[in-house]
Amino acid sequence: VKRVRTRHFQNAKDNGIVITGLTSYDQLTARIFDEAGVDFLLVGDSAGNTVLGYETTVPVTVDELIPFARAVAGAAQRALVIADMPFGSYETSAEEALRTAVRFMKESRVHAVKLEGGVRSADKINRIVGAGIPVMAHIGFTPQSEHGLGGHIIQGRGDQLERLLDDARAIQDAGAFAVVLEMVPAEAARRVTDELRIPTIGVGAGPHVDGQLLVWTDFAGLTTGRVPKFVKQYADLRGTLTDAVSRFRAEVADRTYPGPEHSYE
Ligand code: KIV
Ligand code: NA
Repeated sequence: VKRVRTRHFQNAKDNGIVITGLTSYDQLTARIFDEAGVDFLLVGDSAGNTVLGYETTVPVTVDELIPFARAVAGAAQRALVIADMPFGSYETSAEEALRTAVRFMKESRVHAVKLEGGVRSADKINRIVGAGIPVMAHIGFTPQSEHGLGGHIIQGRGDQLERLLDDARAIQDAGAFAVVLEMVPAEAARRVTDELRIPTIGVGAGPHVDGQLLVWTDFAGLTTGRVPKFVKQYADLRGTLTDAVSRFRAEVADRTYPGPEHSYE
């Protein structure tokens, strides 16, 4: 199979082909999603919430994310694998950002990195791209600044649109190959998508974008508690697993498992 490259992202936008991505944090799901044909796998710092049990992505470290990224990059044959740069690993300088990106490339062997921020992150994006590492940017609602933004709030409404467009232009000028738009109104996402040459990837950004991304545990119905309005649950894995565990317990209790077919002579 031929590996998806960043140039295929650009080709897709230029030819009106929609890009699909899912998050993944392990080799099992990476293999399944890759074989099912998603174009990219994001080893998101959403692992903080989904895998590690933190309330936000803020505490996630590079050391925590690298083994997940290595597992995903090792399993995917076709999908482009992108590692998220955690909070605190790139904000202080372009040098720090490049050092972190290089660690992900060498230690986890991903194909690209992602970081949050528009204008404020442009110098970091430029430095990483200059070293030959593709960068996906991320604007709109940026979970690493949840406390600064004052919660899970939709970004780019009303007079915030101009700032969103400024951020998008800065990202493109800095050399990013794509940009994630998270939780922005559909009309604002359309404006950014029309304005930019590089593809936009929406997560809670409506239909007028160049690609769609979902956190896999949300999309598969595995997340406990509330999921955002924009999430469509394509499976009920939580229900499936809960039912499986109940049946396992019941069959162990009444000694129908293991049967002769599951026992060695
Ligand atoms: O960490 C993540 O999963 C993300 C996506 C939701 C954009 O950053
Ligand atoms: Na993230």
